[in-house]
Amino acid sequence: MARRQLHDQYFKRAKAEGYLARSAYKLLEINERKRLFGSGDRVLDLGCAPGAWVQVALEIVGPRGVVVGIDLKDATQVAGPNSHILRGDIYQTPASVLTQPAGGLFDAVLSDMAPDTTGHGDDFLSVRLCRRAIELLPDLLRPGGAFCIKVFEGEEYPALLRETASMFQTAKGFKPKASRDISREMYVVAHGYRGRAAPAPNPPAPPDAGTTRSRNP
Ligand SMILES: C[S@@+](CC[C@H](N)C(=O)[O-])C[C@H]1O[C@@H](n2cnc3c(N)ncnc32)[C@H](O)[C@@H]1O
Repeated sequence: MARRQLHDQYFKRAKAEGYLARSAYKLLEINERKRLFGSGDRVLDLGCAPGAWVQVALEIVGPRGVVVGIDLKDATQVAGPNSHILRGDIYQTPASVLTQPAGGLFDAVLSDMAPDTTGHGDDFLSVRLCRRAIELLPDLLRPGGAFCIKVFEGEEYPALLRETASMFQTAKGFKPKASRDISREMYVVAHGYRGRAAPAPNPPAPPDAGTTRSRNP
């Protein structure tokens, strides 16, 4: 089936099944194939509007779980007894504002954040959003937790993948079927968060420590 038809098919299916966007099928596939979270888990969804991923996450975590979402845009139509929807900019929001409604660190952090696309520098803006999510991780994600983040593939993608891999036991790129071929979007899916990096021990003093060296003895 042509990609365009496939896209329309997901769009129609989302309408019929009551999802707010066809992106629901991306998360359903990612979680089915890569098992990021399950029943009873605490999940954070960065860039959650209009709310299709929150809908999917709520189905998976069930009544004992909790989903927190944040977006620049309003997504409160998916707010409920175990979903807390915040409106805000991820660059301005401290991690504590996100963990507070969940009552602790998350089992999984998801990000489907995307910049407004202009065709110029979109991949750099996308990587910048990813880096902000990564910067917040030590105060958001429990050790052993999972991470899934959308990125527009560009020249910074390999470095981002390496960076993520260094913080997790595994990190791989994944492109779900519901993601259009022409789109450069990719998801980095990572498991086994290593947690806040232990502070590096003081390096041993060099043999001539304490002596002053002249550049031109
Ligand atoms: C592709 S949409 C997310 C779709 C969502 N996963 C769903 O299934 O309904 C990307 C979202 O990222 C949000 N976003 C972009 N930059 C952001 C920022 N700095 N802080 C918070 N959200 C941001 C946008 O407002 C947009 O709603």
